[in-house]
Amino acid sequence: MGKIQQQYELSDFISEMTKVVEETTESAERVREAERLLCKLIRTKSWLSQEKLQTENSQYARHSLYRDPKNQFEVLALIWEPGQCTPLHDHDGTWGVEGVVSGRMRVKNYVQLESFSDHTAKLCYAGAMTVNEQSTGELLPPADCHILEPHGDETTVTIHVYGKQLRKFRVFEAPDEKGFIRLGNNM
Ligand SMILES: [Fe+2]
Repeated sequence: MGKIQQQYELSDFISEMTKVVEETTESAERVREAERLLCKLIRTKSWLSQEKLQTENSQYARHSLYRDPKNQFEVLALIWEPGQCTPLHDHDGTWGVEGVVSGRMRVKNYVQLESFSDHTAKLCYAGAMTVNEQSTGELLPPADCHILEPHGDETTVTIHVYGKQLRKFRVFEAPDEKGFIRLGNNM
C-alpha cells in the first residue's frame, strides 16, 4: 500500500516557522525559510475558512491567521477584489514573504536608499514582477517597499508572513523627478 500523503496545513506551517525563528537570527535566513515553507502551504487553500476569505468593499481585506507569542512572525490572509491595490508602502523595518494562493499579483518593488528628517526618503525603483498562483515574493530591508495590485478579473487570495506584527507601515507619495519620495500618512 502506498503512503498517504497528508495535506500541509496552517498548523504545520506555524510549527515549522516557529522552529525557524527559534533556530535562526538572520532575517535573510528567515525569509528564505519562510518562502520555502509558504510554497508548501499555498499549494492548496482548503485549510482557509470561509470567514478568512471574506472580501471588503472599500479596500482589500486583511485577516489575521496567526501571531507568534514572542512577536517573531505573523501570518495574514489578504483578499483582493480587482482594482484594490495598495499604495507604495514599507513594512516598519521588518522582512516579509507573500504567496499567491489563487489569482495573480502584480508587484512593483522599491529599495530604500536613504531616509531624511524632513519626512522624505530616497527610493529606487527595482522593477516589477507578476507573482502567479502558488508562487511567492519576498521583502528584505532595505528592499522592503512595494506596490501590490491584483491582476485579472477574479478575487485574488494571498498569504503574507512578516517578521513581527505589523502595527504600522509608512505610505509614500509618488517620487519627484530626482527620485525623492515624500512620506504620506502612517497606517
Ligand atoms: Fe506590503
